[in-house]
Amino acid sequence: MINTAKASTLTKQSLTRSEEKVKKHVKLIERTYINNNDSDYTKKIKELDKNFNYSSNSNYYWSDPELSTLYGTSLYEEASPSQRIALNHIYWAGQYIQTAATEASTVFYNQLTARVFSQFNGYETLCKELELETEQERHHIHAFQKMSYKTKIALQGKARLGNPLYKQFKLQFSPINWINSQLLGLQSCTLGSIAKIMLPSRAQSNLFLKELENQNKSIPIQTSALIGLMAGSKPMLRFLTLNWGSSPFLACQYYLIRFMANMLLKDYEYRYSLYFRQLEKKGEFIPAPTAVSRYHLLDESFHTTISQQIAKELYKDFPKPTAYEKFVANLVIYLAQRNTLSGLSGGILCVFRDDAQLMLLFYRLLQSPVFEMSSVEALYWIEKCLCHEHEGFHVNLKYHQRLLSDFRHHFQDFDFFWPVNREMRLMAKGGSIDKAIQSNINSFQQFSKSVSC
Ligand SMILES: [Fe+2]
Ligand SMILES: [Fe+2]
Repeated sequence: MINTAKASTLTKQSLTRSEEKVKKHVKLIERTYINNNDSDYTKKIKELDKNFNYSSNSNYYWSDPELSTLYGTSLYEEASPSQRIALNHIYWAGQYIQTAATEASTVFYNQLTARVFSQFNGYETLCKELELETEQERHHIHAFQKMSYKTKIALQGKARLGNPLYKQFKLQFSPINWINSQLLGLQSCTLGSIAKIMLPSRAQSNLFLKELENQNKSIPIQTSALIGLMAGSKPMLRFLTLNWGSSPFLACQYYLIRFMANMLLKDYEYRYSLYFRQLEKKGEFIPAPTAVSRYHLLDESFHTTISQQIAKELYKDFPKPTAYEKFVANLVIYLAQRNTLSGLSGGILCVFRDDAQLMLLFYRLLQSPVFEMSSVEALYWIEKCLCHEHEGFHVNLKYHQRLLSDFRHHFQDFDFFWPVNREMRLMAKGGSIDKAIQSNINSFQQFSKSVSC
């Protein structure tokens, strides 16, 4: 829970803002809070979560077929009708396990940044909204985890969900290694010291971070969550967290990353929502996961509005950013592009990285009861699906391009952005099927060696 009690050691700061600006974004935040509070989408998700039974939903598609793992590959072409339905369910489960991890980190960052905003007059409703969102995320996370694991266990079995080989492979290909060795090469304590030196008065002021420190708890670092993938390494995520928790400008910039995560989720969740409405119109059975996606999209629309208002308007209420703060804000977007948006998966729609990290997942899936392949057969199909052009790459490219144009539209007014960020140049460069295939060919050579030895 967010404790918005004012710190006795801190002096309230009054801000001078033009009446017009105050009216516009503060009013929008207040209206969003009222509407979110009055909505019952979370309640509906809780009910669906409570009553979820995989077998009652197992014979139905949960979305258009294109939201299926390995969609458009030669394997998908040869798959039986029941295998195709399984791939459709595995896509939902995989995407929402990732979303659960991402929303677990949102719970932390909502609390962290609310502490920054609560030091200023006039943001009480915003803090209440963040508290409400945090509560909603807890229910979303529960539903996603329970329903995804039930689905995965029903289709793949418990034994296939864990594999020691993954650790070995992950070490070789982890972006953590890459970013540490090539981009920064700095250790966690060094980065933390930089934040404290550059933000001397502010770095001490976040009570939430202080409480963690007093309880000897470290900052919860989730590199599996989208924000962890975006940061690229634990030291970098810790460094960014210290910054987001220590300056009002940078706390607002956290919401730019949250907004990007909101948009990435919406890229495919909107498709589930459309499918829900089609089924509803026709009076047909609506699978529980489809309904959860629909209600989640509606809950998240409030969160997206808040992300957008903080990132694009609210930051202007606070003192102008220093050169250091501008640098950190740009670094975040640069890393997010580089680590999570500059590639194309050939096996999972709306994943905009190459498939190196996903090969083991496909390897396990192909040997699971869904396909019952041998290791040699699984490797044969992974190479065939990921290292050659197919329809799935083209469909994924369309999603990538739509998201790219949305980001460019939203980022055009940020005058403190570096051009590489304003124009999302790294992401644009990553929208190449040839590049994705070449990268997969290289990764597959190493992957096949790692599982064969
Ligand atoms: Fe959520
Ligand atoms: Fe959310």
